This record gives sequence, structure tokens and C-alpha cells, in this order.
Amino acid sequence: MLRLSPVPIDVGQERQFYDGWYAQFQTASDDALLCNLETFRRDISDPRSPGFERRLLHQTALEHLLAFPISGCNVLDYCCGTGDWGLMLGCLGANVTLLDLSPVAIQVALRRAKLSGVEGRVRGVAADASNLACFRDSEFDLIFGSAAVHHTVKYPGAVEELVRVLRPGGRLILAETYGNNRLLNFVRRLRWRISGLADDAGEDVLLSDSDLARLLQHFRTSRVMPLNFLAMTKRLFRGRFANPVVLQTLRSLEAADRTLLRICPPLRRYCGEVVVVAEK
Ligand SMILES: C[S@@+](CC[C@H](N)C(=O)[O-])C[C@H]1O[C@@H](n2cnc3c(N)ncnc32)[C@H](O)[C@@H]1O
Repeated sequence: MLRLSPVPIDVGQERQFYDGWYAQFQTASDDALLCNLETFRRDISDPRSPGFERRLLHQTALEHLLAFPISGCNVLDYCCGTGDWGLMLGCLGANVTLLDLSPVAIQVALRRAKLSGVEGRVRGVAADASNLACFRDSEFDLIFGSAAVHHTVKYPGAVEELVRVLRPGGRLILAETYGNNRLLNFVRRLRWRISGLADDAGEDVLLSDSDLARLLQHFRTSRVMPLNFLAMTKRLFRGRFANPVVLQTLRSLEAADRTLLRICPPLRRYCGEVVVVAEK
């Protein structure tokens, strides 16, 4: 029988999985690795790009990131992967620390920093987010995480470490999957199983309101902005957004969401993605 429930994994398994995953970028061309605000915006606005599927989530997070001056800010790109967000902020003048469990991810992200001309403002740290002894208390003005916290909340101490390294008055901005919708969670897990996604990918936690409450209790103010209810069916069209019929369908679903979520706010908690903005 198909088993949908997640299997607990440890940090070593997750590191090994992501080292293997990010190894594919080690042979990428210099052009493909360049990263700045322009390449970032192109990725989310071009229906042929992988970033297009998450454009509402990423546009919303970007607006909140750029709502305050970025230049000179000490930013932690939390679980940075290959560093798109941190490098883009580095190009805007931030002093960026790229943090990821995977040394291979950090290696790729630092090569990208050099290619993008921001190596002087960017450092990389390969470490487990549940033990950030490498950082001082209050070291960062801004912590940003994309598809990040749902990987780390399962590790004891990770929430406390995130809070510790953010200065009082500092901001936390997250772009995350949202996991209150049981039907959507069932479909997600079914899809992962069918596609053979390994348990070690660490997708076992689908960030719910209770996980967020555990994090946000440490913050003075917080705003949770759910996105995409009907439009989560976009997952069925992955890689096909350049098709005009698919694109029009997606736009219609997004328009329907805008109306539905305005007239029925309780539905918001069943959306599939969320942007969180909090101040410590
Ligand atoms: C889905 S990827 C997101 C990467 C990137 N933020 C992005 O948006 O493309 C999740 C990342 O979390 C990292 N990660 C998982 N557990 C971690 C931990 N305990 N400490 C630090 N990073 C971790 C993984 O190595 C992986 O790069």
C-alpha cells in the first residue's frame, strides 16, 4: 500500500540529500548562474521560467523586502539553497550571510556571488540552523527565508536560534508553503510519493498556523498573508504556463481567489502559500 505519512529524518540525511541535489549546479555555465534583481524579476515574470509558478508568493515577499532600505542592512538568507534571494539583496547593497545546511549549496552560491560581482558583500556559512553558534546574538537586521522554515522547525532549537540572531526591532520575512489545508496536503503528499521524492528532502512538515504561532510568539508584531486558494491547482500545470490556455486559466483562478478570499476571509487559512512579515 502507498504510505503517505512522513518518516522522521535527521539533519545528516537532509544534508546528504541537498548536497546531491545541488551538485547539478556545479557544472552550470556562468551565464546560468548570474543573479541580480533583473534576473530575479525575469524569472518570476516569464511564463517559461521555473519561478513563474510562485510569482505571486515571490512578488509579495519582494515588495515587503524592498519596503525598507536594504543597502547596508545585515541580512541572513536562511536556508539559502543556491542563494537567489541573498545574492539579489547583495546586488542592492546589503551585507549578506548565506546560510545553508548543504556545503555544496554554499559553494555554488559563492560562485554565483563572484559571477554577480557581489563577493565583497556576501559570505557563506554551511551550518545547521538549529545550532548557529557561528553567529552572535542580534547579529542580523533582517532574516529572509524562502521555502526554509518548514525544513527547520522540526529540529529542536531552530526557532530559538533564528530569534536569537535577529536584533530587537529586526525583521523576519518568509515566503513559505502553507499547510492548514488537509485536502491540499493529501494531494501534495500523494504527488511526492508518486514522483518518488525521497523522505530525506525534508518536506515532512507542511507549515501550519500552529508551527507559525510557535515562531511568531517571539515577535512584537507579525502579519500572515496567505496566497492562492483555487490557484493552487497551478501545480497541475507545472512547466506549461507558456501555453496561452493554461496561462489564461491560471489568471482566471487567481482572479476568482481575489474575490473569494475578500468575501470569505476564513478561507484564507486554507491557501497553499504564505508570506510572513514580523518584527522582533
Ligand atoms: C526547498 S530548499 C529552499 C532553498 C532556497 N531558500 C530557495 O528558495 O530556493 C530548502 C533548503 O533548506 C536547507 N535546510 C534544510 N534543513 C536545514 C537546516 N537544519 N539548517 C540549514 N539549512 C537547512 C536545505 O539544504 C535546502 O537548501
